[in-house]
Amino acid sequence: MPEIRVGRDWDDLKKFGSKGTIIIGKNIVGTGAETHLASEIKFDVLRPHVIVVVGKRGSGKSYTSQVFAEEIYKLPEEVRRNLCVVSIDTQGIFWSMKYPNNKQRDLLYQWGLKPEKFSVFEYVPFGQKDKFDKMDVLYDKTFSFKPSELTTSDWCYSLGLDENELEGILLSKVLSKMKGNYSIEDIGAKIREESFDEKIKLKVENMLLNAKNWGIFSEQGTNVYEFLKPGKITIFDVSLFGGGVGWNVKSLIVGLLMKKIYEVRVLERRKEEVSTIEEEEKKEREIPLCWIITDEAHNFIPSERATASSDIILTVIRQGRQPGISQLFITQMPDKLHSDVLSQADLVISHRLTSQRDIDALKAIMQTYMLYSIEKYLDELPKLKGVALILDDNSERLYKIRVRPRQSWHGGESPVAL
Ligand SMILES: Nc1ncnc2c1ncn2[C@@H]1O[C@H](COP(=O)(O)OP(=O)(O)O)[C@@H](O)[C@H]1O
Ligand SMILES: [Mg+2]
Repeated sequence: MPEIRVGRDWDDLKKFGSKGTIIIGKNIVGTGAETHLASEIKFDVLRPHVIVVVGKRGSGKSYTSQVFAEEIYKLPEEVRRNLCVVSIDTQGIFWSMKYPNNKQRDLLYQWGLKPEKFSVFEYVPFGQKDKFDKMDVLYDKTFSFKPSELTTSDWCYSLGLDENELEGILLSKVLSKMKGNYSIEDIGAKIREESFDEKIKLKVENMLLNAKNWGIFSEQGTNVYEFLKPGKITIFDVSLFGGGVGWNVKSLIVGLLMKKIYEVRVLERRKEEVSTIEEEEKKEREIPLCWIITDEAHNFIPSERATASSDIILTVIRQGRQPGISQLFITQMPDKLHSDVLSQADLVISHRLTSQRDIDALKAIMQTYMLYSIEKYLDELPKLKGVALILDDNSERLYKIRVRPRQSWHGGESPVAL
């Protein structure tokens, strides 16, 4: 069958052919009544990438992102063992990968596929164990962070404080004196010792003690090496943080996770390079290259403000290819997403978009090689679920795609009142 390869440059095409690619769907050709599915669209996973999946609500974004996860899981062992996936699940829907997609069995058969369950590993926040137990969600383990892993900025962003105001200054002063593995109470005690405005001291200490209720702190903290394992697909369910602090806490979690992954991969990359220079026999990669999937990304790296995760996300986007980190961002609001994310993406998958602001955000990138305006291509997409445009910066081409059906159950279905 003819095939289209995206995300791969000419040199790699010559060197690897179709090796290390995943099938994400089929090319839609023709318009109107002539429309049909043709070549398979294969995407490179040998190199690191930045992918952005956009589209209005219900257009298939989360679904598409899970097709990537399934495909990475299904790779031949020699490729798969060099990769792992970390998904940030803001809606609590990715755990359903553990169940087969029996609902779309017929559609799957048309594609020559079968419903299948995937062995993914799900973490839920340390302090939310009971809530998840009550909901009968099948999680595998809890995750947490040590308070000592947070910088002054981390605390300020997540508590909604300004680093340059008195509260931030106090925190920075106190944290600079803390040593070893300390608890939130230890920070509180140090604050009390400090000679500083008494009201501010009380306020900050109180805020810190309240942060314990987020349920993400413990003395041990989760070790990254637990989940940066060959072929492992890990989900971090952050869906239960509601209220005013909700997104602050979610951003803190994403920021801390990403910082750890980045640090480990940078170290590992150095080791890998040394061993290549020394021309040692090619050893198996100890820490796999990592894919990070982030749903509702405009909240973690918005255009108009900074969050506890935005700095590290920008660093990873700009430098992540070197240490081997790929990112897949999902957003229904591309115009609210930091513009660097779209401009650094080498693959954009655009499901149906209706808001002009969002279409304009797409127009700002990658239009040099497009014959017509993006509206024309979006209009031509058949009215089916899972159709999208793929803008491939590597080949400077645009394709219409129908994303393949998922083999595992999709948890994002909207409820029906009837
Ligand atoms: N490639 C696809 N093939 C078949 N059905 C799909 C596909 N993509 C999406 N769907 C259907 O569309 C629904 C909405 O998709 P979802 O990814 O949850 O939307 P979004 O994340 O954009 O809000 C899914 O529940 C599924 O039934
Ligand atoms: Mg979604």
